[in-house]
Amino acid sequence: MMTYSDFRSDTVTRPTEKMRKAMAEAAVGDDVLGDDPTVQKLEALAAETMGKEAALFCPSGTMANSIAVKMWTNALEEVIVEERSHIYNLESTHMTFISGVTPRPVRSVRGTMDPDDVLAHIRKPNVHTPRTSLICLENTHNVWGGAVVRPDNFEAVRRIADDHDLKVHLDGARIFNASQASGVPVREYARHVDSLMFCLSKGLAAPAGSVLVAGRERIEFGRRLRKVLGGGMRQVGVLAAPGIIAMTEMVERLKDDHARAKTLARGIAGLPGVRLDPTTVETDIIIFEFDHPSLTIPVMLGKLKDKGILALSVGGGIRMVTHKDVGDEDVERAVKAFREILS
Ligand SMILES: Cc1ncc(COP(=O)(O)O)c(C=O)c1O
Repeated sequence: MMTYSDFRSDTVTRPTEKMRKAMAEAAVGDDVLGDDPTVQKLEALAAETMGKEAALFCPSGTMANSIAVKMWTNALEEVIVEERSHIYNLESTHMTFISGVTPRPVRSVRGTMDPDDVLAHIRKPNVHTPRTSLICLENTHNVWGGAVVRPDNFEAVRRIADDHDLKVHLDGARIFNASQASGVPVREYARHVDSLMFCLSKGLAAPAGSVLVAGRERIEFGRRLRKVLGGGMRQVGVLAAPGIIAMTEMVERLKDDHARAKTLARGIAGLPGVRLDPTTVETDIIIFEFDHPSLTIPVMLGKLKDKGILALSVGGGIRMVTHKDVGDEDVERAVKAFREILS
C-alpha cells in the first residue's frame, strides 16, 4: 500500500501521543457555563503569552476572525484588508454576511502593505461612503507563501490607526511561525494590534481550535458573539488540553519546518516548469508558479501523487507546506519525485 508524504497543508498534522493522553485525562466542565478549567487555563496562557487582558477559545480561525470583525465594527462601515489576505478571500465573505461591513482591499509587497497606501484607503467621512473602522493584518501571510511581515510595518499601521481612530486586528493564524522566523517575540507583534487570533491546529499540531485575544471587555462581548454563531462548546477541555501542549511544546520546532521548506525549495527550484525563487521561502509554506510545456498543474499533481507526494493547486501554482509529520526523508522523497518527473 502506498504511504504518502503529505505536503498539502500544515493543517494535516496529527496530534502527538502526549496530546492524545492530555485529551484523555483533561479536567473538563461546561465551558458555556464557564466551568471548564482546562479551557480557562488555555485562555489564561494565551492572554499572558500575547500580553493582552483576555482570550477566547474558538472552534476555528475563521470563527475567531469573524468574531473579531464583528466586535470592532458596526453596519455601514468598512474594513481595510490586504488584497490576498485569508480574511478577505478565503473565509466566505463573513465580513458582509455576519458583520454587514465591506472589505476594502489594499495591494502589498509579499503581504506587507505600504503605510501610505493604507492611509490613502481610509475614507473621509461622507454620506455616500462607508466609514472606515478597522484595519486587518495577516502574519505570516498564507497566500504570499508564508511571508513574514516585520514589526516596523505593524508600528507604522498602528500609528495611522491611532491618528484616525481605527482598530487593528491581526490574523495571526501563523504568528508563531513569524516569530520563529524573524526572532521577534509574539508579544512585540501583539503590542501593536487591538486583537489577534492564532491557530493551534496548523503547524502547532493540535487537532482543532484557535484563540482570539484582546482587552477583557471586548472578549466578553466576543464570548456572546461566539455563542450566537454556534461556537459555544461544552466539555471542550478535551480540545484545550492539546492546545496547551501546542503552545508550550510545539513552537520551537517550527524552525525545523522552516529549514525543511527551504531545503525543499532549493531542491526543486530551476527544474523545468518550476518558477520558484528559494530565497523567498521564509517559513513553512512554499507557493510557486508551475508553467511546463507539456504538464498542466492537475497532471503534475497526479504524477506526484503516483510517487507518494501530496501537494495542492492554488491559483496558477502549486502549494507545499512542511510540518511536524513530514521529515527530512519526506523532503528527499519529494525532491526525487520532482526530478524524476521533470528531468
Ligand atoms: C492565514 C489564515 N487565517 C485564517 C485561517 C482560518 O483558519 P480555520 O481553517 O481554522 O478556519 C487560515 C486557514 O488556513 C489561514 O491560513
